[in-house]
Amino acid sequence: MARLLSGIQPSGDLHLGNYLGAIRGWVAGQRGNDAYYCVVDLHALSGDYDPHQLARRTFDTALNLLAAGLDPDECTLFVQSHVGEHSRLAWLLECVANLGELRRMTQFKDKAGESESARVGLFTYPVLQAADILLYDAELVPVGDDQRQHLELTRDLAQRFNHRYGPTFVVPEASVPEVAARVMDLQAPTRKMSKSVSSPLGTIGMLDSPAEIDRKVRKAVTDTGGEVRYDPDAKPGVSNLLELLAAATGASPASLAGSFTSYGQLKAQTSEALVELLRPVRERYVELAADPAQVTAVLVAGAERASQVAGATFERASMAAGLLAPGSEPPRAQETAG
Ligand code: TYM
Repeated sequence: MARLLSGIQPSGDLHLGNYLGAIRGWVAGQRGNDAYYCVVDLHALSGDYDPHQLARRTFDTALNLLAAGLDPDECTLFVQSHVGEHSRLAWLLECVANLGELRRMTQFKDKAGESESARVGLFTYPVLQAADILLYDAELVPVGDDQRQHLELTRDLAQRFNHRYGPTFVVPEASVPEVAARVMDLQAPTRKMSKSVSSPLGTIGMLDSPAEIDRKVRKAVTDTGGEVRYDPDAKPGVSNLLELLAAATGASPASLAGSFTSYGQLKAQTSEALVELLRPVRERYVELAADPAQVTAVLVAGAERASQVAGATFERASMAAGLLAPGSEPPRAQETAG
């Protein structure tokens, strides 16, 4: 039995990349493991967001995750800001992180560029992510390919903290799916599918209707030449469709390629497979949306369970870093070495 943790930003509208790259792995991982999953609303504050929408989106993201198959009897689902230790541990970790390693984070560079008005929260974002993970002694972190660098940083911070203050944190590993770890935009297949991209045809929503899925797959950009071949560099559009079909059917993208003689055939089968893959998610969403009190209860119980684990880890880390425990006598002064 392994300890798992992962998180997702509350965009409300989750997409196929989130589902195949991460959420499906969360659902598989909850069985037989001790799994913690959180909606990372504090991370959302680091970008442009509408404060009138955030709470609704946070709630709706939790609803989406339950619809996708998270089972509150098998895992702990909670909202990041409901467990105060996330922000508290982030500060301890900021005091072991250095400027250079945060400047190298590609997601920060992509979003902030050279702008002097970029938010400090965007810069320290990966440290808060490290706190999310380390608080739960997570051994495995199921994520898509784009999170690998943040996981490397988390490992570095855990190791540095352990080295400086004594063994405190478990050093986690990323768990990235073999296929569809980086689902690409259907209209621009060299760019990853994302919530923020303004190409509605390029992104398949997890709750899209069968007709919407079919329309988007059929309009997907393919490559020159009519041959169906798995070659992500030379044929990014076709390879993306093959990856999606492979993820939905359990076959490998390269082996599937041989069964099609035209792009049209590939699109028709991919569309059908994705419709069937997402159908149960959409159906469960409708059921759950009719009973929001159930979702609230899941989040209350989840925050309680998460707080117990997070509280114990935070106490361990703050003692290791030398903070005075609340209510305790000041320890006798020790000779400082050197
Ligand atoms: P976020 O909210 O951008 O995405 C949530 C998960 O979905 C995966 N993902 C994708 N996978 C495949 N193809 C895509 N096109 C695609 N787009 C997104 C992401 O890899 C991610 O696993 N920083 C994180 C949130 C976070 C977190 C954490 C993750 C905060 N704390 C602790 C793990 C552990 C993020 O922005 O994910």
